[in-house]
Amino acid sequence: DKGNHRHFMQKEIYEQPEVLSHTLGAFVDMTTGRTRIPNGQTLDFSNVRRIALSACGTGYYAALVGRYYLERYARIPCDLDVASEFRYRESPLGDVDLALFVSQSGETADTLASLRYAKGEGLRIASVVNVQESTIARESDVVLPTLAGPEIGVASTKAFTCQLISLAALAIHAGVARGVISPERELELTRSLAEVPRLANEALALEDTVEALSREMATKRHALFLGRGFSYPLAMEGALKLKEISYIHAEGYAAGELKHGPIALIDDTMPVVVIAPHDRSFEKTMSNMQEVAARGGRIILFTDAKGAAGSGSDMASTVVLPDMPEILTPIIYAIPLQMLAYHTAVQMGTDVDQPRNLAKSVTVE
Ligand code: F6R
Repeated sequence: DKGNHRHFMQKEIYEQPEVLSHTLGAFVDMTTGRTRIPNGQTLDFSNVRRIALSACGTGYYAALVGRYYLERYARIPCDLDVASEFRYRESPLGDVDLALFVSQSGETADTLASLRYAKGEGLRIASVVNVQESTIARESDVVLPTLAGPEIGVASTKAFTCQLISLAALAIHAGVARGVISPERELELTRSLAEVPRLANEALALEDTVEALSREMATKRHALFLGRGFSYPLAMEGALKLKEISYIHAEGYAAGELKHGPIALIDDTMPVVVIAPHDRSFEKTMSNMQEVAARGGRIILFTDAKGAAGSGSDMASTVVLPDMPEILTPIIYAIPLQMLAYHTAVQMGTDVDQPRNLAKSVTVE
């Protein structure tokens, strides 16, 4: 049932404040502000030397944010692969002693094969999964549940942001276990995570602004998405969402890679989506944005009030998000990117919930 929404995808975008709150509740005791592994399980990070993450598609971009979180908040080195490569690469696992998988369906063939490979190599297995009765959940030592509820739209939305909030809480939990996050800092970070439902609602309120921008996007054949740091995985996720449902060719790049090739694509017809909250990467991303502007690129900038003030915003269509702590930006900035893909696809009249050639669950390789 789509309720009063036109598509399941739109309904699922709107469910995010609620399902993010449920998912957070599994990982954080909201009365004490302490993180935990859900359902009474334990996962001891104190002696983990290295983590190998793998997943497919949107799950892979969630894992990429997860790596940034685990490295920044828990100081654990991480490897990351798309599952279709991990399963065959036979990479020497060296000091890896935990394998972490991310999957909405829990049935993705390549992710499951990677899990079995890692298990065969004697690694401990933890998985962030949305479908609790899935094969990946059953075969994992530790199940990190996302409580997004059933996701019907083929393009993943609420499952992705729930994966991000789980990984954020997990990274904080790991940081505490390793003594790199003090108990006070843990409380501060979980208080930030508790702001997610409110901030997600504020992001949803940008729908009309984003819809207006989608009208021009719907006239394009190509688009480029740029981000740095925490926003780099989002650039790739934003591009994936757009190409999946609107069939516009879109590429996500680390903003710092612009000069190394993609800048050749920029002319006055090229839409460039820049994701740049006013964080530690902001100034660098702005200088990349200026390079795009100097070549006439049509910029759509997602930033906050401080970022808008510092961007020389006359060169971009700017969508202003609320201010938020850095750890939240991937979760909240995902929402307007989902809406941009959604409204572009609606303008173009594609089958948003069932895009051509795609299946919700990829159970063959
Ligand atoms: C993108 C999308 C796919 C899936 C991928 C992995 O919107 O839905 O890229 O993310 O097929 O699926 P799961 O997470 O079920 O393993």
